[in-house]
Amino acid sequence: MDPDMRLDTKVVHGPRHEHDPHTGSHRIPIYQTSSFVFKSADHGARIFRGEEEGYVYTRLGNPTIDYLEDKVAFLEGAEAGAATASGMAAVSAVVFTLCNAGDKVIVSDPVYGGTFAFFELAKKKFNIEPVYLPAIKFPELLEDHIDDRTKLIYIETPANPTLDIVDIEKTAEIARKHGIPVAVDNTFATPITQRPIELGADIVLHSMTKYLSGHGDTIGGIVVGKKDFIHTLKHDVVSHIGSNYCPFNAYFILRGIKTLAVRVRKHSENAMKVAQFLHDHPMVEKVLYPGLSDHPLHEVAKKQMNGMYSGVLSFIVKGGKEAGKKLIETVKIPALAVSLGDTDSYIEHPASMTHSSYSDEELEKAGIHQGLIRLSVGLEDPDDLIEDLDRALNSLKI
Ligand SMILES: Cc1ncc(COP(=O)(O)O)c(C=O)c1O
Repeated sequence: MDPDMRLDTKVVHGPRHEHDPHTGSHRIPIYQTSSFVFKSADHGARIFRGEEEGYVYTRLGNPTIDYLEDKVAFLEGAEAGAATASGMAAVSAVVFTLCNAGDKVIVSDPVYGGTFAFFELAKKKFNIEPVYLPAIKFPELLEDHIDDRTKLIYIETPANPTLDIVDIEKTAEIARKHGIPVAVDNTFATPITQRPIELGADIVLHSMTKYLSGHGDTIGGIVVGKKDFIHTLKHDVVSHIGSNYCPFNAYFILRGIKTLAVRVRKHSENAMKVAQFLHDHPMVEKVLYPGLSDHPLHEVAKKQMNGMYSGVLSFIVKGGKEAGKKLIETVKIPALAVSLGDTDSYIEHPASMTHSSYSDEELEKAGIHQGLIRLSVGLEDPDDLIEDLDRALNSLKI
């Protein structure tokens, strides 16, 4: 495919037309099989020795999954990709590929609650030590915390659930001086909004469950990066742990990606409109959204996010936690559910739901207010969402 084609064309057609080479099927088929038949005993042995390309067993590789991996790698500007059973399987695969017992990972704070819980598990079980640095001061603090044991710098930007921003370019510049790889969780932004590899990062990962799927019907994860790194991650970690992806779900994600560019643009537009409405509402204490000019890192977001700021925002209502809980039960359009990046809006309370793995002290340190409400803005008409939120917010006054 012509590398000069525009992003929307790449999303639909890249990196190659999807035709199945064996049947001409316009859509890549779901190769729903566990094993692949060898032409002979020697043929099987050559594939196992790596002397010849070919499929063996779906845990080790599958054409439907391969196509998805190539597609996301292409959109992120990476050499290769490895799809995994979930976003958490992608996070753990990156850490287990790069870190051994006794190593350290510097992690931006906050991160998704499941990611935090994984780092705590890795510390307890495998002596891999996470060092959390506040997202908004991350590059400034980084240098002082790097030492010989640091094997990975792990950032999530925008961060779940505070929408804090980490300056990817500055982080990568410092990391490069020390020869330490930078991994970016790009779930909230997607390659439509932010391409960390172009900004100097080495590894990008996603919970594909969110915007890449886009329809709230599948779980999945992916890691993209350099060919050698992905080869090691796939063959020395994912295939041994068994956190590989499955062809059926890969098909759903491929289907979702076809509309990624239009969806992400509309999600961001809608979120901006809702954020501005909440910002001016008398019952709202604070709105956390990097698209607003009073966000502390709005200028960094502007520089690295391609003029879009994600479809997720968070806010604190007057009356704190109890008022927030009442609000999420009162709104009619958003589902009271975790997850995000779906056509439908979702609303939740991070301190008691997605980030309940943080203790009260850890929540405070990470800047996750007890009353914070996270809203994933869907593809509904934003004016209907605004009217719904307005009604629910005004009901809190009584
Ligand atoms: C930013 C981020 N990273 C990773 C994950 C984990 O993804 P999954 O739920 O697909 O395992 C999530 C889930 O919400 C997330 O929001």
